[in-house]
Amino acid sequence: MAEPGDNADVLPSHTALYLEPTYWNDRFAREEHYEWFKDYSHFRHLILANVKPTDRVLEVGCGNSQMGVEMFKDGICQITRTDLSPVAVKHMQERSAALGFEGIRHEVADMLDLPFEDGSFDVVIEKGTLDVLFIDSGDPWNPSEDVVKRVTKMLQETHRVLTPGGLFISIAFGQPHFRRPHFEAEGLSWSMKWATFGDSFHYFFYTLRKGTKEINQGPTSSIHTGGKFTFDLDHEFMDNEDFLLRSSIGDDD
Ligand SMILES: C[S@@+](CC[C@H](N)C(=O)[O-])C[C@H]1O[C@@H](n2cnc3c(N)ncnc32)[C@H](O)[C@@H]1O
Repeated sequence: MAEPGDNADVLPSHTALYLEPTYWNDRFAREEHYEWFKDYSHFRHLILANVKPTDRVLEVGCGNSQMGVEMFKDGICQITRTDLSPVAVKHMQERSAALGFEGIRHEVADMLDLPFEDGSFDVVIEKGTLDVLFIDSGDPWNPSEDVVKRVTKMLQETHRVLTPGGLFISIAFGQPHFRRPHFEAEGLSWSMKWATFGDSFHYFFYTLRKGTKEINQGPTSSIHTGGKFTFDLDHEFMDNEDFLLRSSIGDDD
């Protein structure tokens, strides 16, 4: 597994490359494993509190993360792992087969145009994948039209493939005050709750349950900061690649 700081040879020359399929294919051809944000052990308790073993789970933008495999090991056995990159999907398929986890399905899929029937999953989960769509968003309070369009499309597709009462889990560093306008846009029947995990820097574990818009009043736990969000720049923060993504999204300004 790549450790923070070990992956200099796969870093993009500029953050806009995170939006390019060719960048990801090239990267996954050379990189065995990289875990965005934190690995499963840091948010496992939140997964187990929200996902049942019988749930049909769709993971979007799996990359070369172990998250889906760890969920499978925890007894969540109906998992479909997808990514836009055929290279990532092939590698993940081979890795699962080598571990004897043939029950995990793998498919190439664009999260902006999911190749699945309406209402076919109980849970859709992503880690760091939605964040990529916020690249080049400019002012996070007032994102560009392009960003709004692609984020809306992703959320509409996710909402569409969920069963009534199904759950969207988004593991992200984008903060609640920036995410809420997108998550709670017109036409999406869920409302946003969140928990946090992590040490010096908190990541967000958003849960959005289809059909609950009028029911939920607010977060399960929150770190409201009155608009601006502050944190200490420390060693761990600076050493992680997601620093690049965070800076580009502008959550820290
Ligand atoms: C920041 S990485 C996160 C990878 C992984 N989820 C993790 O936690 O380590 C973003 C992933 O999203 C994938 N991706 C980018 N655009 C996508 C799209 N339109 N549809 C599906 N996956 C996409 C990339 O190939 C990459 O694997």
